[in-house]
Order: sequence, then structure tokens, then C-alpha cells
Amino acid sequence: EHELSRRDLVAPLFVKEGIAEPVPISSMPGHHQHTLESLRKEAAELAGLGVPALLLFGIPAHKDAEGSQAWAAEGIVQRALRAMAADLGDDVALIGDLCLCEYTDHGHCGLLQQEASGRRSVANDATLDRYRRIAVAQAEAGAGVIAPSGMMDGQVAAIRSALDEAGFADTAILAYAAKYASGLYGPFREAAEGAPRFGDRTGYQMDPANADEALREVALDVAEGADMVMVKPALAYLDVLWRVKQAFGLPTAAYHVSGEYAMVKAAAERGWVDGERVMLEVLTSIRRAGADLVVTYFARDAAPLL
Ligand code: PBG
Ligand code: ZN
Repeated sequence: EHELSRRDLVAPLFVKEGIAEPVPISSMPGHHQHTLESLRKEAAELAGLGVPALLLFGIPAHKDAEGSQAWAAEGIVQRALRAMAADLGDDVALIGDLCLCEYTDHGHCGLLQQEASGRRSVANDATLDRYRRIAVAQAEAGAGVIAPSGMMDGQVAAIRSALDEAGFADTAILAYAAKYASGLYGPFREAAEGAPRFGDRTGYQMDPANADEALREVALDVAEGADMVMVKPALAYLDVLWRVKQAFGLPTAAYHVSGEYAMVKAAAERGWVDGERVMLEVLTSIRRAGADLVVTYFARDAAPLL
């Protein structure tokens, strides 16, 4: 009934500024924080394997309170997008992950405000202005798809209007519409160096106990102009994925996240499961539950087998 093809895969990649050699990510065997050069090589290899889309995360050498390297024309992500666009042309869709947590010194996905009580929290609406700058900077650098992952209210509308005003009406938006506050992002925080320095993300990400809320979140993003929507993580939320696909019928992505990848790799290393078999079973299940696109760190391992 259902099929997994290499054309369904999206490969996440990390590029880091200011390193001379690629740095292995210990909790994600097979993955690295790339230099510009090693990123280009990896991207070309993935393209050669028939992987049709890459999702890029950047780690700047210098972080500040605003995350200004996220929209700098010479920021590491913008440089990487320009290089990959030149190397790969139209063969591969370049997706820019749009968030601030890799770029801010406090590690939150938005700007901070101090409340009267002295408590610091994320300032939703002030953050939208920065997201607009990032979207345009990424589109100018060659991203054909922008994927806002910060879960700020109104982020899709803000980015859509910024792109349209800058002449990027054809740049698509893949919205991280239903993103849960999950423990499964652990290895990613090593990879992207974006762990919050205080507090957590439960103020903007979703409660794992909620499913109806996911449909409301997706409806908002669709109304704001999302072209594609994403559910994240994947396996623990296949019911949500199914409901989103059934309710909206849009191109729907599932993000098989770092912790999901790490669990399979770790068990396989110990000989406790057959890693290849579990990989294909899990990715096929995500397709069965309704995903048109599967964002996965397994793209490189799976593509040659499909
Ligand atoms: C941050 C972001 C995260 C991931 C993608 N973008 C982490 C988080 O929200 O804490 C997780 C991806 C993964 O675990 O593979 N905006
Ligand atoms: Zn973030």
C-alpha cells in the first residue's frame, strides 16, 4: 500500500563557522558540524544519491542577544546557501531552517523581554521582525524554501509578507506547524549548539499531551500562507501526523528528529536491533501515517537502499 522512495527524503545538514575540519557529532554517529568545504562535498554526495532536498542549520562563530548572524549577508548560512546553490543548481531544493536559537547567546528561539516580575521570557511579536529579515536573507542567498521552526505566533504571515515585499513571491514556506516540546531533541542541541541557557521551550512549543491543539496550530499556519506543514517529532506523534494529513491534505512533512535517530543507532551499535531493518521500517511507517516528506538524518544511509 505504501512505499518509501529516496524522493521522499529531506536531509538535515549543519555548517559551522570558524572550524578548520568537520567536527563529528558524538550523539549522532555519521553526522558532522561541517566546514563550508565539507558541507559542499556532503551536499553533492546526497544529490548524487537522489536525495531531492536539504535542510540547512548554521552555527555562527559569534552569538549575541539578538542573533544577528542569522540574517547577516555574510553569515555562515547565507554563505553556505550561496555555495550550494551554485554547486547544485535546480537539482536539489535548498531549505533554510529559520530560527534564532543557534544564533542567540541565550539559546532561545526568539528575542527576550524582562517582565515586571523580573522573569525573562520570549517576546513573540518583536521576534517576528527578526524572522522577516532572516527569511529575506536566506531567499536572497538561494533558499527556495524557508522553514520557520521557532513556533512564534504569526510567524508564517510575517515571513510570507516579507518575502513577497522583497520580490520572493515564489519562495515556499514549510511551516514547523506542530512542534512539540520534546526530549527527543537532545542530540540536536549538541549539533546546533542551541540549548537554552535558562528555562525551556514549553512557552512556545506544544505540550505532548495535546493533539487537537496541533490541528488548530496547523489551521493558523495554513491561513497565514504555509505551503507545506510539518509535524515534529515523528514516531511518537504519528497520530497527529495522520490527523493533519487527513484534515488538510497539504504536502505534509514529518521530522524524524535527532533523538529518534540516535536511539536506533545506539541500539544497533550494541547489536540489540538490526539497524538497517529498523531504519527502513520506521521511515516507511512515517510514510504510512501520511508524510509526503520525511526529514531524517537517515537520508544518507537509506537513499542507496531505495
Ligand atoms: C530549534 C530546533 C530544534 C530542532 C530543530 N530546530 C531543537 C529545539 O527546538 O530545541 C530539533 C531537531 C532535531 O532534534 O533533530 N528551533
Ligand atoms: Zn529555535
